[in-house]
Amino acid sequence: MRITVIGTGHVGLVTCATLAALGHDVVGIDSDDEKIKTIRSGRSPFHEPGLEELMNREVSGGRLSFTTDPAEAIAEAEVVFLCVGTPPKTSGEASLVAVENAARLVAKHASRSVVVAEKSTVPAGTAQRVKRVLELERSAHEFHVCSNPEFLREGHAVEDNLHPERILVGAESDVAFEAMRRVYEPLTAKGVRLIETDIQTAELAKHACNAFLAMKISYMNGIARLCERAGADVVQVAEVMGSDSRIAREFLNAGIGYGGFCFPKDLAAFDALARQLGYDFGLLREVARLNDEAIEVVAAKVKEILWNLEEKHIALWGLSFKPNTSDTRLSPALKLARKLLDEGARVVGYDPEALANAKNDVPDLELANDPLDAARGAHCLVVATEWDEFLGVDLAKLKELMVYPVVVDGRNLFDPAAMKDAGFSYYPTGRPAIIQ
Ligand code: UDX
Repeated sequence: MRITVIGTGHVGLVTCATLAALGHDVVGIDSDDEKIKTIRSGRSPFHEPGLEELMNREVSGGRLSFTTDPAEAIAEAEVVFLCVGTPPKTSGEASLVAVENAARLVAKHASRSVVVAEKSTVPAGTAQRVKRVLELERSAHEFHVCSNPEFLREGHAVEDNLHPERILVGAESDVAFEAMRRVYEPLTAKGVRLIETDIQTAELAKHACNAFLAMKISYMNGIARLCERAGADVVQVAEVMGSDSRIAREFLNAGIGYGGFCFPKDLAAFDALARQLGYDFGLLREVARLNDEAIEVVAAKVKEILWNLEEKHIALWGLSFKPNTSDTRLSPALKLARKLLDEGARVVGYDPEALANAKNDVPDLELANDPLDAARGAHCLVVATEWDEFLGVDLAKLKELMVYPVVVDGRNLFDPAAMKDAGFSYYPTGRPAIIQ
């Protein structure tokens, strides 16, 4: 099929490359000239495993191209995916200006009947707005709007798109359903489930999924607070809970909480939508409160251990919002860094991928080029993101070069027994501390 993707950010670019890999002719369009130049030179503007290779393979194979010219990109498209940003306003609501503008572009440049698929995460009711914009533009062509939310995790996005657990399409016309069935036929032929709903159900289901996952994390962070008070072990509690298939083990890891550009913003947008619909969904705000509290708890722990933070050197391992990404947007690690810096500590951070972004976000943060360097002369090491690389660090060497052998593990990355054997005072999250 001839497909156009508007917006070549994280979701858009991965969508471009993977739809081309499924055999479609895809044009990616973005108004950001620099971004398109970067992509055209064969580089992805962000780190996503497998993306650059796939993108370049499809470009050389002739199925994928990129442009800043909407007229050229949209005219002959059978399906246009809207993958533009929906950033939060100060009220928490999602800003939908880019969605409206993208819809207008489609109306202006389409030279045939076209299916418009929302992929950006949007509040329920957005498709009806998109439809109205398309009608108001008085194009001579027919538009069929549908919702096709993405379920991509950063760091696994290519994999998630090529081997999804399910595909969701919400539509109200057979034309739209038929087109989307054709788009995903290479996947459904291999047994991937395509769930078809009305449009607002698909829109709402996406928010419901992300809010539920965030709730699982915050629930476990609440359990971690209880475990710390009762002397219980939250990791074992998670194992017990996760062995119940109704609960499932994923997203039960307590720590310094969730970040990134999806969960915090989607939760706020979902809460705002609920309010607009006249329903006070207080649970969502409690999920966000528990998430903020998770950072406070780690900061308080560090303060309790080190007493005054002025003139103390704290090593911070992990700066991205989760492992295997360079993304630091709303990273709990950086929120913690800011807190510790505000308290007067010297904070030296290390991250395998996110150093440049972290420096940009928190200029006062000092950076090291490897984990041991960050910890040299430190009074305390805080693990903020659970990169595998940290598990390979020589614990004896680490202890030797720290001033105090103290580790606060905000992600329960280390094995407490190994930390005890190595002679550290070890403070995990929601598990008994080892003080020596
Ligand atoms: C998420 C959703 O998983 C994805 O389906 C959606 O389309 C976009 O948002 P992503 O933001 O890439 O994806 O990250 P994810 O892997 O879900 O992790 C989100 C945050 O939760 C991270 O900060 C992570 O560290 C944290 N997390 C995750 C926990 O604190 N504990 C857990 O048990 C799991």
